Amino acid sequence: MPVVSAPVDATQTPEWAALVDHQKEIAANFTLKKAFADDPDRVSKFSHDMGELHFDFSKNLITEKTLKLLLDLARAVHVEERRDAMLAGEHVNTTEDRAVLHSALRAPKSDRGSLMVDGQDVVGDVHDVLNRMYAFADKVRSGVWTGVTGKKIEHVVSIGIGGSDLGPVMVYEGLKPFANAGIDCTYVSNIDPNDIAEKLRPLDPETTLMIVVSKTFTTLETLTNAREAKAWMLEGLERKGAIDGSDASCADAIKKHFVAVSTALDRVEEFGIDPENAFGFWNWVGGRYSVDSAVGLSLIVAFGREVFEEFLRGFHDVDVYFKETPLENNVPVLMGMINVWYSNFWRTETHAVLPYNQYMHRFPAYLQQLTMESNGKSVRWDGSPVSCDTGEIFWGEPGTNGQHSFYQLIHQGTRMIPADFIAFVNTENPLKDGDQDTHELLLGNFLAQTKALAFGKTADEVRAEGTPEPIVPARCFAGNKPSTSILGTALTPHSLGAFVALYEYIVFVEGTVWGVDSFDQWGVELGKQLAREITVAFHDDEALAEQDASTQALIAFYHEHRA
Ligand code: F6P
Repeated sequence: MPVVSAPVDATQTPEWAALVDHQKEIAANFTLKKAFADDPDRVSKFSHDMGELHFDFSKNLITEKTLKLLLDLARAVHVEERRDAMLAGEHVNTTEDRAVLHSALRAPKSDRGSLMVDGQDVVGDVHDVLNRMYAFADKVRSGVWTGVTGKKIEHVVSIGIGGSDLGPVMVYEGLKPFANAGIDCTYVSNIDPNDIAEKLRPLDPETTLMIVVSKTFTTLETLTNAREAKAWMLEGLERKGAIDGSDASCADAIKKHFVAVSTALDRVEEFGIDPENAFGFWNWVGGRYSVDSAVGLSLIVAFGREVFEEFLRGFHDVDVYFKETPLENNVPVLMGMINVWYSNFWRTETHAVLPYNQYMHRFPAYLQQLTMESNGKSVRWDGSPVSCDTGEIFWGEPGTNGQHSFYQLIHQGTRMIPADFIAFVNTENPLKDGDQDTHELLLGNFLAQTKALAFGKTADEVRAEGTPEPIVPARCFAGNKPSTSILGTALTPHSLGAFVALYEYIVFVEGTVWGVDSFDQWGVELGKQLAREITVAFHDDEALAEQDASTQALIAFYHEHRA
């Protein structure tokens, strides 16, 4: 296996220095209003198509020179070489010494045998598991697979957290119009018992299938919730007289009502789930990059094979595009580098993602793990400290709701917040309000926001509307606030897959500039370790005495007020 090269310190390159100077020029001389007035071709120069997605970068604080300098930097830090190393199965996840091959999860079956990594035919293995999942999902969907009392499964509860939850929830919500087998999915993640209690309350154990999803099968939240679910299932079935409480009847019920998804199939068996009902994946799939693996089993049950295959094709088309498109036209590269432009040269801290489609309401939450668990690092992949800010803070909510909440700060606050606005030409629910097409109302808002951000409103324009002088300043909009508009033809399994792959590669490009390992997540470990110790301290004086004063005082408050 070729050794992955040491990261380049981007900040020490001449390309970085050129961008520092260039930012000063742009900050002093550039406005979007002027850029649009001066160049009638600005929009076509800064627009790109990637499959069914259209990208307009023209309302960013960029010129052709900016993009050239950014791509010089991308080349200086070897984005292309690292991309090729990753796609070839090199161990680019250095701190865990692993390959990073989520791209193989969506490779077509004709690619079987084309990628041997650590002695494994990765695409072959992927398709073997996919075929088992499709066969299983078909049985559940058609009613051949039933609960222990012979009733058809109507509810799936997928239990997982982080990457074993956020992707499936986001896609389930995103593709709801494609659900076609009368099977609802519910997702339980939080260790807070309120989560599982509320989610299970309306369900009937006889018609419920649990999918326990955990890459490691050691995660406290997931195993705790899975045990709760098991107890709920067995008690419920016994109360209904469906099982008699004997070991054999319980084992039979678990077999019919529990399946698992994991890379640790031995632990699945220890937990009591039949290995025949387990679907594997591999340590070269990171949790937050796994929605297109067996982690998405609930999606195949809800939507069926064809929809999932189309979803995978959406990813794969972007994989090929990312690999083959020259950097100058490569949308994930351009977006990643424009994000670097704002983060490192304009020192912006956050990045809003604003989908104008209610079905995408969990997309920003999904992106938070993808982006921040990947790139929130302060050492590089060789252990040396980073020398610039890393990891933008991603956040967002669907439009138009956000317009009535936090957009005020984006329009008139003191911080610059680059934003990705996402919308679709076609709606899943065409409605009319009188003669007015409601979807056009939505799209009108989508277009209005980026226009207001870019071009603002001057004091003279405000005065011309008859605004009394004392409140003119409060009603002005400075403009020059950057945004990218992304317009898809429709929210489909294919376009949603493409969106996820797009952001995966944006993360990769940014991570390469910063020199961080975008595929580990050691930052979550300390909290897990301390939680284990502190939980003991609730009822163990010795463990309590070892805690800091604040923790001790908070535990004392807990004991004093516990009902
Ligand atoms: O704690 C963070 C994390 O490790 C995520 O990276 C991961 O997606 C999540 O926990 C769940 O892990 P698992 O799938 O192993 O239960």
